[in-house]
Amino acid sequence: MKEYTTEMDEYWNEAGGRKWVDNLLRIEKTLEPIGSKMLEVMKEEAQVKVLDVGCGGADLAAKTASLLGQGSEVIASDISQHILDEAKRNQRSANLRFLQCDVENYDFDPHLFDVVISRFGVMFFENPLKAFTNINKSMKKGGRLNLLVWKAFDDNLWMKVPASAAFKVLEKPEPPKEGEPGPFSLCDSDAFGEMLSKAGFDDITFASNKLNLNLGSLNEAVQLMTQLGPAAKPYGEAPSNLQKQARESMEAVLSQHESASGVVLPSAFWLVRATAL
Ligand SMILES: C[S@@+](CC[C@H](N)C(=O)[O-])C[C@H]1O[C@@H](n2cnc3c(N)ncnc32)[C@H](O)[C@@H]1O
Repeated sequence: MKEYTTEMDEYWNEAGGRKWVDNLLRIEKTLEPIGSKMLEVMKEEAQVKVLDVGCGGADLAAKTASLLGQGSEVIASDISQHILDEAKRNQRSANLRFLQCDVENYDFDPHLFDVVISRFGVMFFENPLKAFTNINKSMKKGGRLNLLVWKAFDDNLWMKVPASAAFKVLEKPEPPKEGEPGPFSLCDSDAFGEMLSKAGFDDITFASNKLNLNLGSLNEAVQLMTQLGPAAKPYGEAPSNLQKQARESMEAVLSQHESASGVVLPSAFWLVRATAL
């Protein structure tokens, strides 16, 4: 069996990676409007070499590659071989390449990238300052960093509402400790801005965004939220009778947000932009 260097390395290559791939179509559809925010920003670019950090299924990397066209190249990177295999099966483009690596530690050629992007792929580093310093080293001077990161859990009702319903039945896990990797680890813009500055970035801006996310039909929404977010681990470890009760509890609250187009709930995230010094 492969030896993993960190818990996150193991998570994304094992259970977390399998769950991501099993739910990939729903995830890509749900997150598409957030990806569009990145594509808006990337319209400003031409003839560039781009790194996508933690590309997942690489739908956004492929869309970026086709938006930028010939003369540009997008390197879609991910720590998870399992996820990357799925991405390679689904996404093809002459100017899209794949790289399996831990971006925190990978020995990139210095000053390689004009632009680094990520949609929710930069919150899982063991040592984020080290990771962003490594990313900075891989970028040309004046290169652009464009990141989408979640704001706090309490602002992301699409996760909070179903997870809170599940916790009526399942044991609620301890909240993550400060600095621990996880979806909300970079939600504090002051702390994150300071870290980016230490890592060698300037002109750091945080644009606050809110978007309603469509989680699909009631069944799809319940399925998705048993696999993603803070309830996923206790759900996975619970006996089947408690899993059934948790699903029923989630279904009851999610049905209150169901419309003709699906279950819709608010999300909140930062578009973080910075320049490499
Ligand atoms: C929440 S998913 C986001 C995937 C994709 N960007 C999207 O928006 O659909 C986080 C991704 O980051 C990857 N990841 C986590 N830690 C990483 C690291 N240290 N280096 C590279 N990729 C990493 C995971 O394997 C996973 O695919």
